[in-house]
Amino acid sequence: MEKKVFKTYEEMSAYAAQMVCDLVNGKPNAVLGLPTGGTPVGMYENIRKMYQEGKMDFENVTTFNLDEYLGLTHDHPQSYYYFMNQNLYSGVNLKPENINIPSGTASDFEAECKSYDAKIDAKGGIDLMILGIGPNGHIGFNEPAEILSGPTHTVDLTRETIEANARFFDSIDDVPTKAITMGVGSILKAKKILMLVSGASKQKVAKELFSGDVTTNNPSTLLQLHRDVVVLMDEAADGQ
Ligand code: PGA
Repeated sequence: MEKKVFKTYEEMSAYAAQMVCDLVNGKPNAVLGLPTGGTPVGMYENIRKMYQEGKMDFENVTTFNLDEYLGLTHDHPQSYYYFMNQNLYSGVNLKPENINIPSGTASDFEAECKSYDAKIDAKGGIDLMILGIGPNGHIGFNEPAEILSGPTHTVDLTRETIEANARFFDSIDDVPTKAITMGVGSILKAKKILMLVSGASKQKVAKELFSGDVTTNNPSTLLQLHRDVVVLMDEAADGQ
């Protein structure tokens, strides 16, 4: 795993956006795996700006998001679809048919999970999977547990994640307790992985990520099994 540390969050975000830009310019029909959360907001801002400046084109790009809360519709302000629409979709020329987010309101979740992984495979797999990391080491909504699921699946969120995400809701009681997420297998199948880590609250898990130990109690450590991972950190997260 390659690690790059940046003085500031802004520098890290600009670098991440440039990586996406380079990929899309080299492969106009690139398949991107995308995260939500506070960390990637700066990257999306840079991408929108670069698109407006004519530096990149999403005409033939396909995106697959990592996860979605169960029970929230696309127009719910805390749904990940809504977040993506605000941060990316509305600002670039992605075709609606090339935008994919697991559905949090499917009538048959088993079928939804299967068809999500099948769609990724049908597109030839993910070229660049961009990830954030939870303070508990989760990637997507793959929460620390004794056993992790490989494929896309539904999951109960841990108390720690519900608490960490309560900042986006009016009250902690409004945070959904379940989600649908790409599994660690779906993530590790990506050709390249880019992880963004920002802020002092991530110092502990970020250190474990490079410890050499692999444990399902910190799902991010499984990334050590992948041959092409770049981790971008700001100095606050690195804590060196
Ligand atoms: P954050 O979330 O970027 O809002 O810290 C990251 C995550 O939970 O994956």
